[in-house]
Amino acid sequence: MSISAQFDFAPLLPAGLPAPAARWTGLAKYSFVGGNNDPDGIPVDGLIEAVNAVLKREGKALATYNLAHGPQGYRPLREFLTQKLKRDAGIACTPDEILIVSGSLQALDLVNHTLLARGDTVLIEQESYEGALKRLTRLGVNAVGIPLDSDGMRMDALASALADHKRRGITPKYIYTIPTVQNPTGSILPEARRSEMLKLSQQYGVPIFEDDCYADLVWSGERPPAIYAMSKHGGVIHIGSFSKSIAPALRVGFIVAPWAMMSRMLALKTDAGSGALEQMVLAEFCAPHFTTHVPRLTRGLGAKLDTLMEALSEQFGTAAEFEAPKGGIFLWVKLPDNVDTLKLYQAALAAGVSINPGPEWSTDRSYSTSRLRLCFASPSHQEIRDGVAVLAEVCRREFGVPARSANVEKRA
Ligand SMILES: Cc1ncc(COP(=O)(O)O)c(C=O)c1O
Repeated sequence: MSISAQFDFAPLLPAGLPAPAARWTGLAKYSFVGGNNDPDGIPVDGLIEAVNAVLKREGKALATYNLAHGPQGYRPLREFLTQKLKRDAGIACTPDEILIVSGSLQALDLVNHTLLARGDTVLIEQESYEGALKRLTRLGVNAVGIPLDSDGMRMDALASALADHKRRGITPKYIYTIPTVQNPTGSILPEARRSEMLKLSQQYGVPIFEDDCYADLVWSGERPPAIYAMSKHGGVIHIGSFSKSIAPALRVGFIVAPWAMMSRMLALKTDAGSGALEQMVLAEFCAPHFTTHVPRLTRGLGAKLDTLMEALSEQFGTAAEFEAPKGGIFLWVKLPDNVDTLKLYQAALAAGVSINPGPEWSTDRSYSTSRLRLCFASPSHQEIRDGVAVLAEVCRREFGVPARSANVEKRA
């Protein structure tokens, strides 16, 4: 018996804890899950130069919590962000309106813990980030899904949901949106819809929670202004991340918010500051290199998306339906109605392929049952081709879809 098995912690656990985590068993051979990035897109040499330079110059500052730059984070990184947000997203803010956090997941937690209580309601894109949905469930918050089309959240549906809730005396706590390369559908909310959302937000007194973590990965390099930038009433909280543009393992994200929210979130951020070395390295690397790094990264991602779409068409024929995303790292795929992607997930995993089943990314179980999300950033081109071939084999065995294997009959 191992020593750790001798003491029983179970009777000590308070009520309301989340279910215990499963042990890590490694990534699948063909991994299409999570928000992982392209290993070849990590600017390793630039990061090595940055770490050397910044540690030589400022390494002794690590002796002080938060490098003596205060709880909102390393000032040069916040200064870089003010310039970047102005240039790319049209956001005019000062470093004092930015809080650096440990990945934008911590941003989700801070916003949620500031605003939400059990029994509250929020409006959210019907298909949305699993991490956001899971947090709301855990908090006992009612997440009401607003349907999407190929331009993102439908404003007619948002308007009627707001009106309906008002009739019932319910004021939702926020409208959560991933407007720029939506996760999982890959759409970009056009500027006119952003204006419409702001109008509705103001009319009903419901703030907007804008999660812009994929905004740097737009194929065209052009994006509409952030909703935060377009707001005249200040009721928008904006969050972003370096996970998708540089590297997720660094765990650096940020929040842009008015002081009324910022001061509350700071009071809840009890980790004595996010990791300083990551912030220093990012500031050092990004100031000179961000604008050249990102197009190189997105070119590689776009090529992998092409490989994935080709592989799906070749292996699944017309059985796999999808709309090419406008950027990002995910493809949202519809399979025929008889395919249950939660079951496909289990069978595919046993064959070495991991996928994200649709129901985990949606508030609508029946709409999402035959849908799945595939991350194309982290597998290599060959792994994408081989992994999709295995997935098609498994899907055919379990659900009779596609009807014939690509080995037998290639699509014309
Ligand atoms: C929409 C969205 N928000 C937030 C996150 C969290 O990212 P991170 O904590 O790495 O910044 C993710 C990760 O995939 C995401 O897809």
